[in-house]
Amino acid sequence: MHIDLITVLPNLVRSPLDHSILQRAQEKGLVEIHVHDLREWGLGSYRQIDDLPYGGGGGMVLRPEPLFAGVASLQKDLGQPYDEIIYLTPDGETLDQPLANRLSLCKNLLLIAGHYKGIDQRVRDALVTREVSIGDYVLSGGELPALVLIDALVRLLPGVLGDANSALSDSFQDGLLDAPAYTRPPEFKGMSVPDVLTSGDHGAILSWREEQRTEKTQRLRPDLLPPEHEESVE
Ligand code: ADE
Repeated sequence: MHIDLITVLPNLVRSPLDHSILQRAQEKGLVEIHVHDLREWGLGSYRQIDDLPYGGGGGMVLRPEPLFAGVASLQKDLGQPYDEIIYLTPDGETLDQPLANRLSLCKNLLLIAGHYKGIDQRVRDALVTREVSIGDYVLSGGELPALVLIDALVRLLPGVLGDANSALSDSFQDGLLDAPAYTRPPEFKGMSVPDVLTSGDHGAILSWREEQRTEKTQRLRPDLLPPEHEESVE
């Protein structure tokens, strides 16, 4: 997968991309992530990228020219159309596991992180193919949402996670939350690990985990359950 990210705060996003799973995925050549400073395509000697909103109101709006120039230049370097040009915004479709799964199948993505009061609507109308929100709250820019999206996608790419099954057994992947996890010691501050997990009986462990997942989902996120799992409320 190839991901380009246009941002006005390139340094804000670099560190998370250079650690842990995202770092390893890039080192293994499973994903290429390129961060681009919008100012590269800024206007004039001050490299202007934003301006006051027409019609008044607070905040600054990212001008269309730098974004159009940036997208055209990256598109040319890529040598083929992006599968999606995604603008991160609270207006967008909410990111969930099915959307992450679908986007993880893309080969080339361009992400645009807005800032200030947003980006000129003409960029959204003419260039953006999809708008994605990471939840119903407003952050000060699209950088953290872009990182959330990148992380959610990259961990799904084949070969990124050590255990081939672990992305598939995540919470949400089949609509159920994950079972509780325990490690050593078997006894800690009077709390013990459930016997079944140390029994060595793999069938029993599997059934226990399935029961726990259903019970936990019923208790914490009943909205996720398919109809056959729902408890009758009588
Ligand atoms: N930019 C600001 N808030 C956001 C959100 N919740 N999701 C995506 N982009 C955003």
